[in-house]
Amino acid sequence: MKKVILDCDPGHDDAFAIMLAARHLEVLGITGIGGNCVIENVARNALKILELIGRPDIPVFKGHSRPLAVELVTAPQFHGKSGLDGPELPEPRTPVQNKHGVDFIVDTLRAVGDVTLIATGPLTNIAAALNKAPDIVPRIREIVIMGGSVSFGNWTPAAEFNIFVDPEAAYRVFNSPVHVKMCGLNLTRQCLIGPAEAERIRRIPTRTASVAAELLDFYMEACRKLIGSDGADLHDACAAAWVIDPGLIKGAAMRITVELRGEFTRGMTVCDYRHLRGEDPLRDIYHEAGTAPRGGEPNAEAGMELDRGRFLSLLYDTLAGYP
Ligand code: RIB
Ligand code: CA
Repeated sequence: MKKVILDCDPGHDDAFAIMLAARHLEVLGITGIGGNCVIENVARNALKILELIGRPDIPVFKGHSRPLAVELVTAPQFHGKSGLDGPELPEPRTPVQNKHGVDFIVDTLRAVGDVTLIATGPLTNIAAALNKAPDIVPRIREIVIMGGSVSFGNWTPAAEFNIFVDPEAAYRVFNSPVHVKMCGLNLTRQCLIGPAEAERIRRIPTRTASVAAELLDFYMEACRKLIGSDGADLHDACAAAWVIDPGLIKGAAMRITVELRGEFTRGMTVCDYRHLRGEDPLRDIYHEAGTAPRGGEPNAEAGMELDRGRFLSLLYDTLAGYP
């Protein structure tokens, strides 16, 4: 099994990423990051999901409570005040670990190589670990994130929430030597879960599946009210699924960086995939005008196409395999 650390901000869709990862990957630990809700709720929600699926053995750590350089922005509109509104889940009996999440990431990578980092919240903890211990870079297999977009944003016209919350951290991650796989909104919007899929999940005879259906009920209603959609995108589950089954998502290599200064574009993932046009007809124009594309060599792979049927089978089988 692939060894992973899951950095997340549960959050309804993060909860599905936890369920997928815990079933199909060797989760060395979960590190929480302030994002959808405050860090205390993030940690509590992660523990609740782990106890629901019978995996209290997976340790949970609190990472940073806010971004590196700006105040925290949360999303109670989508996830409720607790960050996991909807189902009534018992208060967790398992304690949060004492070690800081960033120290857990650094110490684990120094002890265990070839670890995949899955990040489904703001990238503050990942950036902080890279800043604190550059020696961990060769020990990271790859970083797979839910964040950004090859096309448009959701929190602003240009920026997706996770990147918008901490653009400086995202810039650090994309400009590190580590290969990044990005499940952006252009991909995760292909993972819309609607009433039909929620009913299919509700019929799975496990407690985990019935809680999953209640999570979807809340999340779908919030999305319907706020953005008029007839379902909820399981954004974060795509990142975990891509690690579990690499064939489930078709990606494209490209240069990705993060806008930090744009009045209207701060937090935008600027994706240069002009080379995908094959022989670039504009190359000479750029060079003549002295505006050679700043793109440069690809540093990332952006998810472009989701095999939705294969994803849903993975999701249903996973939920059926839990208590
Ligand atoms: O924009 C979607 C992302 O923001 C997801 O990770 C969701 O959990 C929220 O954090
Ligand atoms: Ca998230």
